[in-house]
Amino acid sequence: MKRLVSGLQPTGSLHLGNYIGAIAQFVELQHQYDSFFFVADYHSLTGRPTKKELTASTYHVLAMLIACGVDPRSATVFVQSQVPEHTELSWIFSNFCSVGQLKRMTQYKEKSDQYGQNVGLFTYPVLMAADVALYQAEVVPVGDDQIQHLELAREIIRSVNAHAGNVFTEPKPLLTKGSRIMSLSDPTKKMSKSLAGSAIGLLDDEATIIRNIKRAVTDSDPNSAKPSKALQNLFTILEVVAGPEAVKDMEAMRKDGKLRYSELKELLIEETLHFLEPIQKTYSSLIKDPKALELMALNGSRRARTIAQENLSIAKKALGLVG
Ligand code: TYM
Repeated sequence: MKRLVSGLQPTGSLHLGNYIGAIAQFVELQHQYDSFFFVADYHSLTGRPTKKELTASTYHVLAMLIACGVDPRSATVFVQSQVPEHTELSWIFSNFCSVGQLKRMTQYKEKSDQYGQNVGLFTYPVLMAADVALYQAEVVPVGDDQIQHLELAREIIRSVNAHAGNVFTEPKPLLTKGSRIMSLSDPTKKMSKSLAGSAIGLLDDEATIIRNIKRAVTDSDPNSAKPSKALQNLFTILEVVAGPEAVKDMEAMRKDGKLRYSELKELLIEETLHFLEPIQKTYSSLIKDPKALELMALNGSRRARTIAQENLSIAKKALGLVG
């Protein structure tokens, strides 16, 4: 079985962008690949969360993965910091990556304005390369914003392979058509937790969902020849929460010049609430039992670690490290 690896940062609550760009693919592909999903807690440290925030968000991501349909009996679900080989390989990889390559990362440019230029933020993509190489991942399902990081991961791996023999597999990103869900409040930016009114949180309550969808920017005539970016974004979300038929109906109305944003929004609200209800229900029972989540992560981390240790040891030998 080919191997699949992907991670999510535990920073705040997950939103529909995370679901559509990443988690929905995890659920769909988990039985076709030997799948590894992890909580990227070391990555989150770059934003210096408080102890309480980091711990709560880690449990949140674990519970949400399961609530959304990841099956821990077939996929390996784990926490990055429980597998120290990630950081060890990251050190090795940092010698195969230049300062210039890291300076080109757009997320570094954006985030360093917010958090200051800490070294962790700068070398973040090196750790990400280690995350996937450690398991010899062939495919990495992610949203569009991670493509540049994965391109760099491929370059680092190529460089290590050229130096030490073919040690690591070059991973390929997997994208869906919802790989870049845009903000509801500003369709020129991607949906994110940090922009107010931007995201539909997977745990949002009814009133918040109604308010944010009602306020969603819809910047042009709904029946214009080509759907605007904002409209296309609402269609993409609708397709995930209600299925392709719902979008076909809306498209047909648009062609007939009969589409009204208010109707589209009403439908989107109704379908989003309907879609999130079972996820929220399962989540709320899982989050009440942190011991069970801990045990699941511990089991996953154990399995992940066995493979990580094997691959790291091969790499160390190939590089001439004695030990
Ligand atoms: P993170 O935690 O920011 O996001 C988790 C996943 O959600 C996707 N995503 C989106 N997809 C579509 N539309 C959006 N608006 C949207 N916002 C977020 C992200 O692309 C991602 O797939 N660096 C990664 C975590 C990571 C990782 C890895 C991923 C660490 N190591 C190794 C894959 C492989 C991150 O910060 O994702």
